[in-house]
Parts: sequence; structure tokens; C-alpha cells
Amino acid sequence: MTTNSTETKASAKSFIKIADDEKGYPLDQFCIPKHYEEDLERVLIPEGLINDRTERLARDIVETFGNEAIVVLCVLKGGYKFFTDLVDKIQVLNRNRGHSIQMAVDFIRLKSYMNESSTGKIEVIGGDNLENLKGKNVLIVEDIIDTGRTMQQLLELMSSVQPKSVKVASLLLKRTPLSVGYIPDYIGFEVPNLFLVGYALDYNEFFRDLSHICVINSNGKEKYSIQQ
Ligand code: IMP
Repeated sequence: MTTNSTETKASAKSFIKIADDEKGYPLDQFCIPKHYEEDLERVLIPEGLINDRTERLARDIVETFGNEAIVVLCVLKGGYKFFTDLVDKIQVLNRNRGHSIQMAVDFIRLKSYMNESSTGKIEVIGGDNLENLKGKNVLIVEDIIDTGRTMQQLLELMSSVQPKSVKVASLLLKRTPLSVGYIPDYIGFEVPNLFLVGYALDYNEFFRDLSHICVINSNGKEKYSIQQ
């Protein structure tokens, strides 16, 4: 693992880079639910490490927003663990520092994936009326940016409701040749082009109940695939 940064127009965005040849950890070194033991190849990012990295992202976010109030918008369902942990850590900073940022929370539910691939269009299938975000500083919290198409479409949707500002925090950014080039403002880890599950990331709704981020194996893909 190395740290890295992507120089962009506005700012340097740093993240922990997980190399393509990163072996991760054998499953038997961690506690894995019995019902998934046959369906995973290895642990790639243990929950403890996610937790520590999230703590630092919370600090970066608090420093960027200064004293401005924010609405933290959780992209369901995959973003819910990262969202919960990030909001908790911002609250800890709010209690313990000389200045604090007021936070409101909101939720949106999108769906774009079946099996391992994007269906190509995002569907907003739940959440409040986005009009509530007009004039607000919005922090979108997402689990993973893969091609970046989902986030591009969500940002287009957001611009139509005229928020004051929009920033995106994504726990993971996948290295994929299919990327449209979108890079979020806050990134936890840059990961290899593998299908990852756990810590709320799913494969056809399974594996959300797994604490660590793991690489799914061929058995898991087959067992939980949806016939089209
Ligand atoms: P994108 O539009 O290709 O960037 O896809 C983003 C969405 O696809 C994420 O919000 C996830 O729901 C899903 N996704 C992409 N890669 C993975 C993965 O490795 N595991 C689980 N979900 C993924």
C-alpha cells in the first residue's frame, strides 16, 4: 500500500493506493460469517483500516468546510456504512474542537448494477425530494466510484436543484480502463479493478452483512448471480 495524490484543477486529492498485486489477508486470519466462507477469495481492506482512514477523511472535510453548515447526502444502499462512520467521526470532531460544522443528513437511493456490471443508466428509486438541497452545501457520500458514470449522472441531477456547493466523498475509487475520468473530492482508497464486497458493498444485495472489504470469488459470483 502506498499513499498517492491526484493533482486536479482545484486541489490535490490524496488517497491510499492499493496496488494490483496487493495480496491482502487470508480469510482465516479474520472473522468472516460462516455463510460467506466459501464465497470470498481474501480480505482486501479490514474494517479497522477503513475506520482509521475514515477518521482522517472526517478531519479533511471539517477543515475544508470551516464554519459552513452542510447536508451530508448518503447514496444508498452501498454508502450507508461509510456514511454512518464518517458522520460519527465528524460529530466527534464537532464536540472536541474550537469550531464545529452543523450537519443535516439526507438520503438518496440509486440503482445501476446487476451482477458485476453497470446497467448503464442510474435509477433514482428512493429518497427525499432533492429540492430540499437548494442553496445548501452538499457532501455526497458514496461507497465506490467505478466508471464514474453514476456519479456524473447524480451530479447532473444535483445541479438542477441549485445547491450552494457540492463535494463528493467516496470510500473507494476503482482503477479501471472504463473510467470516464471522474475523481471525487475525498477518496479513502484507490483499489484494483476487482469486484469488491463487504462494508455495505454488495453483489446482487448479498455481502452487505460482511464487515471487511473482500474480493468475491467465482463460487460467490455464481451462487448469487441473477439470471437474465
Ligand atoms: P459506476 O457508475 O461505474 O461508477 O458505478 C458505481 C456504482 O456501482 C457504485 O455505487 C456501486 O453500487 C456499484 N459498484 C461498482 N463497482 C463495485 C464493486 O466492486 N462492488 C460493489 N459495487 C460496485
